[in-house]
Amino acid sequence: MQIEKMQVDEQIGEIGRILTDQEKKKGIVIHALQQIQADIGYLPEDAVRELSRHLNLSMSEIYSVASFYKMFYFNPRGKKIVKVCLGTACYVRGSKKVLDSLENAFDIKSGETTEDLAMTLETVGCVGCCGLAPVTTINDEVAGEIIGSRKLEGLIRSVRED
Ligand code: FES
Repeated sequence: MQIEKMQVDEQIGEIGRILTDQEKKKGIVIHALQQIQADIGYLPEDAVRELSRHLNLSMSEIYSVASFYKMFYFNPRGKKIVKVCLGTACYVRGSKKVLDSLENAFDIKSGETTEDLAMTLETVGCVGCCGLAPVTTINDEVAGEIIGSRKLEGLIRSVRED
């Protein structure tokens, strides 16, 4: 990954004339981090160190930007990203039970990834389809009305499927 001064100026555009070099570099950190994450799937320390060298910014400056945004991940994520909605509509219809069942079935807690990197389990506020509560998404595909043990087992099975 090469981030040259030319690219920095291109990213910033006209406003670049009133910014210092340091401010320009900070301005493209987010874009560079997004690119790294798109390529690798998360932000490995080595890649952040390389970016730090290229932009002549400290690691802590880069991490302070990255950790501000929820979209950046610092550990490898699973092939399947399973999100259990804990928004009000889903919560009152039993999404906590769905979360507990997934945590037990895969022996991980919310926010963790299975050792084989098959699945990452997360929670989310509301995914916008409260009428299907309780809702879970698997790689952004909605699985709704996860009520009762049969539906729960089906959800767990579909997460386990390749
Ligand atoms: S609260 Fe779960 S989809 Fe809205």
